[in-house]
Order: sequence, then C-alpha cells, then structure tokens
Amino acid sequence: MASSMRSLLSDHSRYVEAFRLFLENSTEHQCMLEFIEKKLPGIISSIGNGKSAINILSVGGGSGEIDLQILSKVQGKYPGVTISNEVIEPSGEQILSYKERVATTPNLENIKFTWHKETSSEYKSRMNEKKVFKKWDFIHMIQMLYYVKDIPATIKYFHGLLEAKAKLLIILVSGTSGWARLWKKYGPRLPLNDLCLYVSSADIKEQLTTIGLKYQVYELPSTMDITNCFIKGNKEGELLMDFLTETCDFSKTSSLDLKNEIMEELKKPECSEEKDGKVFFNNNLSAIVIEP
Ligand SMILES: C[S@@+](CC[C@H](N)C(=O)[O-])C[C@H]1O[C@@H](n2cnc3c(N)ncnc32)[C@H](O)[C@@H]1O
Repeated sequence: MASSMRSLLSDHSRYVEAFRLFLENSTEHQCMLEFIEKKLPGIISSIGNGKSAINILSVGGGSGEIDLQILSKVQGKYPGVTISNEVIEPSGEQILSYKERVATTPNLENIKFTWHKETSSEYKSRMNEKKVFKKWDFIHMIQMLYYVKDIPATIKYFHGLLEAKAKLLIILVSGTSGWARLWKKYGPRLPLNDLCLYVSSADIKEQLTTIGLKYQVYELPSTMDITNCFIKGNKEGELLMDFLTETCDFSKTSSLDLKNEIMEELKKPECSEEKDGKVFFNNNLSAIVIEP
C-alpha cells in the first residue's frame, strides 16, 4: 500500500459527498424499497400477533429514510397498533436528519421514536451495566455491519433480544457483488481502517452457520453506473473511485500500477456489465432474515 493513501472515512465531508453521489448513480435505495414493498410484509407477518404494542430496534438507522419505509409496512400490517421505534446511531448529524424527516412525514402518530446516540457495542455495554434485557419484535441492521468490530458477538447479542415471533434483518453487499470481488482481491492493498471492514453476505452466512443460527437469504439486484470513472479527470468519476476503493483522493494518491489494475478489474464481468456504452458495477445486496 502506498503510504500516502488514506481511508475515505478520515475525510468526513468528502465521504458524505461520495456517498451522495453513490446513491444518485446507483439503485441502492430503489432495490431496498422494492424488497420492503414485496418481501417485508411476509417477513413481518407474525411479529405483532396478539400484541397491543410492537417494539422495533434500528441499529445504525442513519437518517431514517429506509426506517420510515419499514415502519409504514409495519403500520400497514398492524393498523392502529402502537409502535415503539428505537434507533441506535452514533452520528449526531444523522440523528438530526432523522428527526427532521420524522417531523415532516405524515401519519406517524402511533409511532414513538427514541434515539440513542451511541454505537451498537456502547448500547450493549450500557444495557448490560443497567441489567436491562428489553426484548424486541423486529431488529434491523441495514448497511452497517461493516463498522462493527466483533460481528459474531454483535449478531449473537441482538439475536438474544428477539421475542418468540420476532425477526432480525441484516442487509449488506452480496457475496456475488462487485464489492466482494474488489475487496477480496484488493482489500489488502487499500488503506486499512479499523473503522471499516470489507465484509459481504458470504462472510456473514459463514458466521451464522458457525454460531448455529437459522436464516433465509434474499438477493436484491442492484447496479451503480461507474462510466465516469473511466473518463480521465472527471470529478464525479474520481469521487466514485474514492467510494469504490474507500480511499481519499484515490486517483491522486494511489500508485499507477494499482490504479491501472483496479480500473481493469472494474471492467471485468465479475465486477461490472457494459451496456449501451455504459459501465454498470454490480451493487447486489443480500437481505438475511434470522429467526429467534
Ligand atoms: C451506510 S449507513 C446506513 C444507514 C441506513 N441504515 C440506510 O441503509 O440508509 C451506516 C450507518 O451506521 C452508523 N454506524 C456506524 N458505526 C456504527 C456502530 N458501531 N453501531 C451502530 N451504528 C453505526 C453510521 O453512523 C451510519 O449512519
């Protein structure tokens, strides 16, 4: 790894800009929304049976965009039932956006929101200290396990908090995605950061089998248009390259060899598909549903 390369996460504003561009150029949220629309109602079909209140825990809820879609499906399935939605989220900025979103979204009257500004492991320690073992009807961890140090321990802990008919939903990049391919091949040559782990659904499935938990997997097809990455000096392309490699200013700080190799790799069918003169990176996600 060239010593000048540093993690994109070390430059928060560049990370936020790259992430926004990623959302604009990918079907990331669309494919999650389709899953929530078509599959989630079946998955949550028994979590609230016979209950007067439903308890939901969102781990790494971000700005709440996906959370509110999930909540609307729970409301649809259990009309009139009170919902308590608690959010574990370490970023104050994200919590602020979440609160603003809640304030401007109609029909949330029967939902009580609580935010905990902390990481999942801080939440676990705090609850263990207080000897609180609150149980939940639905827990979800969407695109956040990359930032957790001990993934098996985290899954085990939250799985232990499930009610008898509850479900734990994990969404992260698929083991068949271009991400998994890129990380496996080039992860060791990119700036390692103990804040972000290169994990895919393939790793999580392996860990779940080791822990002995039962699960079901849904594949969520998704793409990201990375055509601009191949246009020399294109600013958007450079930012997307930063996002793909999790490296700040990748095109200026990487060695020429590594840059050429990665650009070549990105065009391979294991990573992307070329269509109508555009290059679409495989951004497939997996949704893993775990039973109590
Ligand atoms: C990529 S975002 C996903 C947000 C949201 N779930 C979504 O899919 O739109 C990841 C979120 O996890 C949060 N996060 C990072 N480390 C965390 C941790 N250790 N525990 C809980 N949340 C964490 C980040 O602050 C961020 O809001």
